[in-house]
Amino acid sequence: MVAAEGELGNGAAPGPAFLPAMWSCGGRRRRRVLAGVVVLLLAAVVLRRMNLTDLIPMRLRGRVLGLQVRDSQFLLEEKPFRIFGGSVHYFRVPREYWKDRLMKMKACGLNTLTTYVPWNLHEAARGNFDFSGNLDLQAFLRMAEEVGLWVILRPGPYICSEWDLGGLPSWLLQDPEMQLRTTYKGFTEAVDNYFDHLMPEVVHLQYKYGGPIIAVQVENEYGSYAEDPSYMTYIKMSLLSRKIVELLMTSDNTDGLAAGNVEGALATINFQKLEPGIWTYLSSVQHNMPKMVMEYWTGWFDSWGGPHNVFDAEDMVQTVKSIIKMGASINLYMFHGGTNFGFLNGALHFNEYKPTITSYDYDAVLTESGDYTSKFFKLRHLFSKILGSPLPPPPIILNKASYGAILMQQYISLWEVLPSLVEPTKSEFPLNMENLPINRGNGQAFGYTLYETVIPGGGRLSSEDHVRDRAQVFLNTQYIGLLDYNAQELLIPNGQGYRQLRLLVENCGRVNYGRNLNNQRKGLIGDISLNKTSLRNFKIYSLEMKPSFMESLRGSTPWSAVPDSAVGPAFFRGTLQVQYMPQDTFLKLEGWEKGVVFVNGRNLGRYWKIGPQETLYLPGTWLQEGHNEIIVFEERAAGRIVQSTDLPFLGSIQYVS
Ligand SMILES: *[C@@H]1O[C@H](CO)[C@@H](O)[C@H](O)[C@H]1NC(C)=O
Repeated sequence: MVAAEGELGNGAAPGPAFLPAMWSCGGRRRRRVLAGVVVLLLAAVVLRRMNLTDLIPMRLRGRVLGLQVRDSQFLLEEKPFRIFGGSVHYFRVPREYWKDRLMKMKACGLNTLTTYVPWNLHEAARGNFDFSGNLDLQAFLRMAEEVGLWVILRPGPYICSEWDLGGLPSWLLQDPEMQLRTTYKGFTEAVDNYFDHLMPEVVHLQYKYGGPIIAVQVENEYGSYAEDPSYMTYIKMSLLSRKIVELLMTSDNTDGLAAGNVEGALATINFQKLEPGIWTYLSSVQHNMPKMVMEYWTGWFDSWGGPHNVFDAEDMVQTVKSIIKMGASINLYMFHGGTNFGFLNGALHFNEYKPTITSYDYDAVLTESGDYTSKFFKLRHLFSKILGSPLPPPPIILNKASYGAILMQQYISLWEVLPSLVEPTKSEFPLNMENLPINRGNGQAFGYTLYETVIPGGGRLSSEDHVRDRAQVFLNTQYIGLLDYNAQELLIPNGQGYRQLRLLVENCGRVNYGRNLNNQRKGLIGDISLNKTSLRNFKIYSLEMKPSFMESLRGSTPWSAVPDSAVGPAFFRGTLQVQYMPQDTFLKLEGWEKGVVFVNGRNLGRYWKIGPQETLYLPGTWLQEGHNEIIVFEERAAGRIVQSTDLPFLGSIQYVS
């Protein structure tokens, strides 16, 4: 019913309404000519409206009805249908492994792939869209179709997902008034432009046009945010007006369910434990409609400094069984988690700021590196019984390699390399990273920012709670201490003459869930003071450590042998030798404190000795036969070797309760 409204916006030409006026004028001959013109015009309008090239194959395939809601069950083309879904995020898995993971999903007995779409990767710079390589969404969805999976698309624009700012681009925060996830004009204009580019990528992959997409999710867990009562209708209309024609759904956890629903979309629920009364609660929101658990949490994510969360396989399978037994549809979040490569992890900030780790193993059905778990085999057993027909054989396991110790042979300190690699921004006041006048006006999204100023003496340095999220403080090149959410003051020793005060600030990841999304600017977000006087006149160096930066670092600078006393912040370089056929491996950074690993110029992700994660997953697809360059950016205490092993270690286990 809402679709009709949407179509109005796409009308190709004025309709027949003005015809009577034309017929009434002129003589007979003129009428005939006019009639001809009108017939042509009408034909053009009809053809454009029907989009015949799409329509004919669709009708031939009998794809008219799509996924429907009929009382308490789903119908697909009039036949009862149950969604057995699993989540895999293409942006967390190397493209070369997409097929492997999807075939494993099929072999587990699932029939539907669900994926989020990360706006911050597809539009990293305002107006610059990327749907190529590992971001080739169309290729991913086509692959799902080939493997025999339907798709539920979850385009956001907000996706939560333990992903930086819930997938929203950080440049949105350049606007000091920004109100994310509302109908604030600065936000909706950006969403409109994004959807104008995203939807044409997927519209033709909808079921009714012959593709695998059977449903599309409207926003994500909005009931837990619910800052603007008009917002969900706005997002729904944004989808409809861009030719989204399949069934719409919303997805909320139990807290948000009542507030997150929008008319014209099926409400679904997210949980891990089947609490009594949950179905009655869901029914009260969506009445007698099919029950669907959009996110059945198969495991849980980890935060730096915490334990490695594990969810018992038997508990999980028993709950899945109960959900299916009561007639509900289900999506396993995650079927395969993958990795928060680079700086893309999110964070939580309720009482305490807690950044998410690099691994997104999630204790899911497949491991971070795509291996089978007991969850996989238990679920496969369950689904093969339910389906009553044999499942495709599980694809063979990909070998993991242990390439041994990689000796870090070369070194260059950040202080040495900085002046030749980065052009600083000069500013009287500290600027947060998103508002730095770099990247053609898009600011800095991720990584480190160095703030440098000159001080005439020592005293009490106060961060005024403006450090996001951690700052190492240096006097010239001497380390003084750390400022973060807890440590907000440092004593700077007195000394001779003018000295450089340097704050190397790390953005550890923006919050992806909760009410304070608008406060996720990073770097120094306001004044810092010495003896209560605000510091001024900064040189600000942006250190995003993108491939182009790593390229310059590799080529143009004098690396030296690693001195015995080497400390960070510095880059360390070594070589990983691969004899033939690169395989997956895991990098262990024993003896190192905190930093980032780069493999052949690409940012693999963060490590931190506080754990829980102790190894970084390095996909074989990032390696080549022969030499592979490993660069470690270490903030403080450097080790000498990086160990390549064939086993991951994600930390001491804690069972989630
Ligand atoms: C800050 O105060 C201390 C103690 O009074 C003093 O020694 C120091 O010189 C002051 N620093 C500056 C920059 O004025």
